[in-house]
Amino acid sequence: MGRRAKISALGTYVPPDVITNKDLEKIVDTSDEWILTRTGIRERHVLAKGLGVSDMCAEAARRCLAARGIEPDEVEVIVVGTVTPDMMFPATACLVEEKIGARGAWGFDVSAGCSGFVFALQAGVKLVESGAHSKVLVIGSDANTRMTDYTDRATCVLFGDGAGAVLIEPAEEGEIGFIDFVHEIDGSGAAALNLKGGGSLNPSSHETVDKKMHYIYQDGPAVFKFAVRKMAETTTKVLERNGVTGAELGCFISHQANKRIISATADRLGMDPERVIVNIEKYGNTSSGTIPLAMETAIEEGKLKKGDLVLLAAAGAGFTAGAALLRWEI
Ligand code: ACO
Repeated sequence: MGRRAKISALGTYVPPDVITNKDLEKIVDTSDEWILTRTGIRERHVLAKGLGVSDMCAEAARRCLAARGIEPDEVEVIVVGTVTPDMMFPATACLVEEKIGARGAWGFDVSAGCSGFVFALQAGVKLVESGAHSKVLVIGSDANTRMTDYTDRATCVLFGDGAGAVLIEPAEEGEIGFIDFVHEIDGSGAAALNLKGGGSLNPSSHETVDKKMHYIYQDGPAVFKFAVRKMAETTTKVLERNGVTGAELGCFISHQANKRIISATADRLGMDPERVIVNIEKYGNTSSGTIPLAMETAIEEGKLKKGDLVLLAAAGAGFTAGAALLRWEI
């Protein structure tokens, strides 16, 4: 193997406004008890009007670079995982480059639903491992509440807004950093989770708006079954092919779509629940934002330390699924 890559810094951002389950009880026929027991969510953060996903990405990026102590113009590449960009084009990466002043960087967006962060991470890691670049900013962020139908109780309780950024750099002598990734896509799942309006097939029109095609459509039980099956498969595969057992992991940092999906995957891996990071109660499902936000939670809770083996996993729209194995080197 050539040179290795590691996460050298982390920064996250959630907007200050919050919608609680109690607030949602006033909008749709639901209850705090149903939401909490079926999903694990208590509240979620909501991006203020007039801001876009690029604003959350830029703030997470600034915090990440401040944590590393480097200037924005030292960033060589910006990779953004998102399915809720400010606009169809230009790419969010371009807007972030301008907002943070990363002069000289190039970059692109990755559309992989809730697997956006792990897919973007592999792209960033390979750019560093190949020797092509030495400072790659990988950002995951979604402004899901912008695409949520607040008359549909089956989806509006699930989603929140947030962002997280990591800096990928070459691992130093004696460090390991990233070990392996297992990623999959399965387009047969496209009908179960999508946002149909505003694309080239169904450009925005009065009709697409009347038919609510600008909102997230989800067949919840179908997505649930896929996520449980695929997260178990991809995590098992990445551990097995690297000779690692669940018991050796310092922590398991999963996408946060539903507490029951996280628990089912962790059980399959034989993991002690104490080492499974869950913060869905505070943020809901922020799609590409969940994993870096959960990294922050893991650090705050003292569950993520330098040298720990860490397993990441996600599944989402596409369908997409992915797992990553790394040694934490911050
Ligand atoms: N409050 C009260 N009742 C509700 C609510 C609600 N908010 N939502 C649904 N219900 C009702 C349904 O109407 C249904 O009632 P019925 O039996 O009378 O028809 C009942 O609860 C059960 O509904 P299900 O959809 O079967 O509930 P389930 O237990 O599957 O939970 C959920 C639904 C939480 C959406 C679950 O399926 C899930 O988490 N799915 C996966 C979501 C996911 O992972 N998304 C990630 C991808 S997002 C991305 O990639 C952009």
